[in-house]
Amino acid sequence: MTGAEQIVVILREAAGDEVSSRVLCERLGVSRAAVWKQVEGLRSDGYEIEACSRRGYRLVRAPDTPFASEVLPLLRTLRIGRDCRYVSETGSTNRDMAALAEGGASEAVVLVAGRQNAGRGRMSRVWFSPSEANLYFSMLLRPANEPGRAASLPLVAGLAVAAALEDCAPGIKPQIKWPNDILVGGRKVCGILCEMQAETDCVRYIIPGIGVNVNLTPEMLPGDLEKRATSLRIETGRIFSRAAVLAAVLNRFEPLYDRWRKDGFEPLIQAVAARDLLYGRTVTLEIGGRRVTGRADGIQSDGALRLVTAQGVVPVYSGEAHLGNVGE
Ligand code: BTN
Repeated sequence: MTGAEQIVVILREAAGDEVSSRVLCERLGVSRAAVWKQVEGLRSDGYEIEACSRRGYRLVRAPDTPFASEVLPLLRTLRIGRDCRYVSETGSTNRDMAALAEGGASEAVVLVAGRQNAGRGRMSRVWFSPSEANLYFSMLLRPANEPGRAASLPLVAGLAVAAALEDCAPGIKPQIKWPNDILVGGRKVCGILCEMQAETDCVRYIIPGIGVNVNLTPEMLPGDLEKRATSLRIETGRIFSRAAVLAAVLNRFEPLYDRWRKDGFEPLIQAVAARDLLYGRTVTLEIGGRRVTGRADGIQSDGALRLVTAQGVVPVYSGEAHLGNVGE
């Protein structure tokens, strides 16, 4: 934790009471001037901190920014997100996380951005990442699996997000659209981009990058997304704390990830099936440059979508599923 984050934690522990700067100096092991400088920095980050008469400080209000000092008190995880880093703006948190991974960062680091100016989606698409409205974050995972097992990890992340969104907004019914979109009422509320570096027989690291539309309003949406995207706010009419949504996702993800690492995807299939948007529907996919239409028949233990076609059952490992017979 940075010095500023420690100050927030100490002020928050005081539950609205004044904390003398002597206590802050002692706990941080720095001078009064250094504490004052950190407090000034926090104020410019949106923290309302009152200077009190006896040279102390009081936390009046925290901003809705997923700083580590806002996320950590809400975490119930042992590892995932315990090292949580926030940047106000970057190109892409997945790209930055890959650099951290190459530099030797350890598993479970989470990187969050207030805004991305080159947010990446699947299939080389752009991920719409406007300032401060939504969540953009990446996790670093180093499962010692063979690369083939990784195909089901996006579904594990999707399951965690779907459950977490329901925790935050009871009443909405998030569904998983294979391989890794989360939809509410048929519109996309979250996208997941899992990027992997592997040797032939061993994963070096996997970076699930997650974008959740939290407080996006219809007015913020560009025309091409208007009919396809939604947000927690659009669905419920409420404004959500991004720190709380992030903590909810991480809290849900860690136990699912641990189970997946230990026992594979099989034990999680039922939970994914309960949210499977495509099940029983006619879908069209592009496989090896060819359009294939069939009936989606669930997801198998290696993460493949089972497609029942006129030629038999085809397991599909990657691609974008379009509802209906798109070739018609
Ligand atoms: C998709 O549905 O196409 C996947 C979108 C993934 C977006 C997230 S936002 C955080 C992370 N950083 C990126 O550049 N992309 C992912």
